[in-house]
Amino acid sequence: MEFNGDFFNLPESYLFAEVADAVSGYEVLHPDKRVLKLSIGDVTLPLPPTVVGAMRSAAAETGDKKTFRGYLPYEGCGFLRESIKNYYKSMGADVSADEIFISDGAKSDLWNLPDLFKRGLTALVPDPVYPVYAESNVLKGNRVVYAAATEQNGFLPMPDYGVKAGLIYICSPNNPTGAAYTPEQLQEWVEYAIKTGAVILYDAAYESFVRDGKSARTIYSCAGAESCAVEICSLSKTAGFTGLRCGYTVVPKALKLNGVSANKLWYRLKSTCFNGVSYVVQRAAEAAFSAGGLAEIKKNTGYYMQNAKILSGALSRCGVPYWGGKNSPYIWLKCPRGTDSRGFFKELLNGAGIAGTPGAGFGAGGEGYLRLSSFSDAETALEAAERLENFYKTHPISAF
Ligand code: MLT
Repeated sequence: MEFNGDFFNLPESYLFAEVADAVSGYEVLHPDKRVLKLSIGDVTLPLPPTVVGAMRSAAAETGDKKTFRGYLPYEGCGFLRESIKNYYKSMGADVSADEIFISDGAKSDLWNLPDLFKRGLTALVPDPVYPVYAESNVLKGNRVVYAAATEQNGFLPMPDYGVKAGLIYICSPNNPTGAAYTPEQLQEWVEYAIKTGAVILYDAAYESFVRDGKSARTIYSCAGAESCAVEICSLSKTAGFTGLRCGYTVVPKALKLNGVSANKLWYRLKSTCFNGVSYVVQRAAEAAFSAGGLAEIKKNTGYYMQNAKILSGALSRCGVPYWGGKNSPYIWLKCPRGTDSRGFFKELLNGAGIAGTPGAGFGAGGEGYLRLSSFSDAETALEAAERLENFYKTHPISAF
């Protein structure tokens, strides 16, 4: 036997595992220092009361013979799919319940989606972006080409008809840069996919952080998207489900290749590799989409956005160039000239006790940048702002 040789085409560790190891190593050496963890986008607020209440009632149901349930539908329970359908409706998008598949979060579906397509495909991946897109394709033996997201294009690459790719990944608001497409810009991607016969995998995990009223929240606000785009979303950041685990993927029935519907094949795949999300969690997710749940969630995402304001305020005062933080819980800042992103990660950890995420971990295009997450509590964000201001006193702004 041999291992899959493509493992050796991956970085040695998953980005956030690498960062967690570096931070633990620092903590072992400096037990007296409090590290402010602004690296992985992990929520800190407790679950909203409406969600917790729904879980309590669902848990009670599992202990009663009359309401106990065993295996649930592979595609997810009808009640949750209906509530997500209505959520799309509130965004002006027409998605039917049988196009929605409940998952344990965006990551595993993002990993499995390339399995729908013929091996050896070419995937067009923004650079920088969430590392899972490229890594899943690398491990499946697919080819990856990159769409450069740079300061010059506002970190929002647009279609290039000279590039041939079967799968197109879009993440908006983008992780890590925070840049978000407008519906008009997304429409150009949809037209490109339709004209070239490509399929878009649209990651909307951060849609609930859109605040400017003009950035897109779903690709299904674009005409024709139902024939070429799959949308992946998660309750992790929106509703604080990073530990609870629930997400959803929309696979439209109109998305067909050679007359075969992607929806049908996705059901085939999911029913074979996944036994669904627990009943208690699906009830919790349903509650998150209720009127009360949505109001509580909005308050929580608002709290994180306030942290983003605190952090970006400190960076502005120090004259540090940064992006994001307006429609996204992430701030993407420039490292001082001559410092690579892993070097700067260490400098900030050692010099300020702040753990960010090195930009190069999101792709070669992230070299020279660092991501800060605003998912901490407010006290941590305030302390981080103060530490940043002190840190930059010894890192003059002329160095950018
Ligand atoms: C992030 O911080 O970008 C993600 O939440 C990490 C992950 O999903 O692994």
